[in-house]
Amino acid sequence: MIDFNSLEYAQKLDNNDELRAYRERFHFPVIDNKEVIYFTGNSLGLQPKLVSDYIKQELDDWAKWGVEGHFHGKNPWFSYHEILTSKMARVVGAKDEEVVVMGSLSSNVHLLMVSFYQPKGKRTKIICEAKAFPSDQYILETQVKHHGLNPDDTIIEITPREGEELIHEEDIIKAIDETGDELALVMIGGVNYYTGQLFNMKNIAKHGHAVGAKVGFDLAHAAGNINLTLHDDNIDFAAWCTYKYLNSGPGGISGIFIHERHVTNKELNRFAGWWGQDKDTRFLMEKGFNPIPTAEGWQLSNAPVLLMASLNASLDIFDEAGMDRIGAKRDELTAYLEEIIHSISARNENVEFDLITPKDKTKRGAQLSIAAKGQGKALFDKLTKEGVIADWREPNVIRIAPAPLYNSFEDCYRFGQALERSIS
Ligand SMILES: Cc1ncc(COP(=O)(O)O)c(C=O)c1O
Repeated sequence: MIDFNSLEYAQKLDNNDELRAYRERFHFPVIDNKEVIYFTGNSLGLQPKLVSDYIKQELDDWAKWGVEGHFHGKNPWFSYHEILTSKMARVVGAKDEEVVVMGSLSSNVHLLMVSFYQPKGKRTKIICEAKAFPSDQYILETQVKHHGLNPDDTIIEITPREGEELIHEEDIIKAIDETGDELALVMIGGVNYYTGQLFNMKNIAKHGHAVGAKVGFDLAHAAGNINLTLHDDNIDFAAWCTYKYLNSGPGGISGIFIHERHVTNKELNRFAGWWGQDKDTRFLMEKGFNPIPTAEGWQLSNAPVLLMASLNASLDIFDEAGMDRIGAKRDELTAYLEEIIHSISARNENVEFDLITPKDKTKRGAQLSIAAKGQGKALFDKLTKEGVIADWREPNVIRIAPAPLYNSFEDCYRFGQALERSIS
């Protein structure tokens, strides 16, 4: 039998991997003449090689047509975002009318809260996870203040239990049930950015709705990573960025989801812009906002085509590979990496690598957060010198995420070798 922690074994797994050829479609950074081991797709995905062609097409049409490119370009810019809608909807498990690609994540969450956080009477409270990504914390705090309320009395943070890192989902459910008719909104990161914990969105939505609250998710670490089923999960809204697992490039465009039961509701409060206006009357330039009866009705501005072209290159890869195959490889790759890390920990007395990410593959995606007990930042710095691009969080957590479209089992094996050499 071949040792699982060997190059031969890793290469055997790669040979059996249906998605192995996709690696060639991405640019891998090269440092000191060596291709890096890139495990930070949870922060910024790698560049698909075709991105430059997709962007060049739009630059060429701009050069050729000027403003007429809005109508006569190969992909008319007037409706460019529509090219992305179905592809994005397939990635997040939604209907086309529930999804639109627009704006940036933090501003989209604000816009969605304008529609879905409507405190009234005693129904004012928001439930979120403790230590949510800072942008989400600031969004909730300032939205609450915007309504003249006190964040300390209004925001209920669910923390992990004493001495633990992960949140017990039953604690979220209990808080929802107990807050009852005082609860206006549940707003949670679908996958926690620090621990990699994935929450059961369907169950949270069911309980939130049972007490009359709205339920939304920040899916920055879930889109393109988890096999999402947003429509069936019946959540009210979500937003995500596309520069992580969706490889759209730094500061790339965001996506939003609004459940179909809300998209035709023209009475919903919203902050409007001309691109959300009914398409037949938009260019009459008249008073009176009449929103498009799909998620497009939340758009403010015309399409940032160059950002969208870059995302389009990546979504074409997702469409071809399919989220089912991507998800299956994600689980195998992550489990293999986990096994390698545990074996290193078992062999080396001076270090204990404790994975704070859930062990259950239905409660995580590609990310593993390693608490490196007995080792400080020096370990991470050595890893970087070894050619590993990962992510360090004080006091001792290394976050890594093998991305199924471009990472290989060999990457996992080589990461293990580098990690073992880096232990002091
Ligand atoms: C969970 C989460 N929410 C929000 C953000 C903020 O995203 P943006 O800067 O695109 O608004 C990030 C960025 O990494 C994130 O990870």
